[in-house]
Amino acid sequence: MTDPLVTVLGGTGFLGSFIVNDLVEAGYSVRVACRHPGRGIRPESDRVERVTCDIRDERSLRPALEGSAAMVNAVALYEEKHGLTFDQIHVDGAHKAARCARDLGVKRQILISGIGASTASASNYVRARAQGEQAARSAFGDTTILRPSTLCSRHQGFVSALDMVTRLPVIPLFGRGNTRLQPVYAGDVAAAARRCIEMSGTTGKPFELGGGEIYTYRECIDLMLEHKGIRRPKIPLPFGSWHLLATLLGLLPKPPLNRDQVILMENDNVVGENVGTFADLGIEPLSLRAIIGGERPHPCRT
Ligand SMILES: NC(=O)c1ccc[n+]([C@@H]2O[C@H](COP(=O)([O-])OP(=O)(O)OC[C@H]3O[C@@H](n4cnc5c(N)ncnc54)[C@H](OP(=O)(O)O)[C@@H]3O)[C@@H](O)[C@H]2O)c1
Repeated sequence: MTDPLVTVLGGTGFLGSFIVNDLVEAGYSVRVACRHPGRGIRPESDRVERVTCDIRDERSLRPALEGSAAMVNAVALYEEKHGLTFDQIHVDGAHKAARCARDLGVKRQILISGIGASTASASNYVRARAQGEQAARSAFGDTTILRPSTLCSRHQGFVSALDMVTRLPVIPLFGRGNTRLQPVYAGDVAAAARRCIEMSGTTGKPFELGGGEIYTYRECIDLMLEHKGIRRPKIPLPFGSWHLLATLLGLLPKPPLNRDQVILMENDNVVGENVGTFADLGIEPLSLRAIIGGERPHPCRT
């Protein structure tokens, strides 16, 4: 392939930036499309074009997708505020983007969703993710769905949350801290997105992307404490108390925790069965231990 164009909706975000960098390094031209495309320091490359686009607005989606061979939708909304709803972004927006992509002859669509997406979830966010998958597929049948577990890099995402919580003198656990998690390196998910653009056998399939090792939440805390060379007491805190705390914190202008995040922590977030995985894409994902330790991302196996 010679320099094909890929539009990354949400390309300035945490995962979006990794996807853009990975594509550029692999020789693609990339169009970053979001509401504030100038934000973020990376990537600066003449292979990267930045366009203003709101996923709710078809008139801005069309020029963002015109001429693209593939689209990756990495747009996120984690909290309903300022009149923005999960339905607008994750369901209706995903549908609009998929329909525009189909109308404009975009060949491949990758939708970033999340492990655990379910229409039966108590979380509005998680339900919207599942409905968004259906909405994207209804407009673009060959949509490849990538469902990562909790994302991190050496200093961002879940690792940054672990760093913050281990600064406390006493660490409150979600319940007994037994929820199983499979934190995944954002660079590995970015590599998976590119593989899905390139590998025709991935069209229309769901992939669940978890890191190299599964840990309980308590073990994740212990890894960070070990990395810092410190000890802290940990206390179990029932989920009912976390829900109350999330409700109270919701009164703040920028709440550090919300109800949907508490619900997410009530359920295991690990790769399930009957779905594609990193192994099918020839990628050996890093473990949380390796990410925290700053192990250099290894090259993919194929
Ligand atoms: N972070 C995690 O642990 C995690 C775990 C599993 C799945 N995921 C999924 O991974 C994807 C990326 O998440 P992330 O954490 O990288 O998100 P993020 O850092 O919050 O970035 C969100 C991106 O979406 C863009 N965006 C937001 N509203 C938009 C709109 N109305 N129109 C167009 N673009 C818009 C933002 O740019 P502007 O604000 O400039 O528009 C930004 O580029 C999401 O689908 C998320 O649900 C994340």
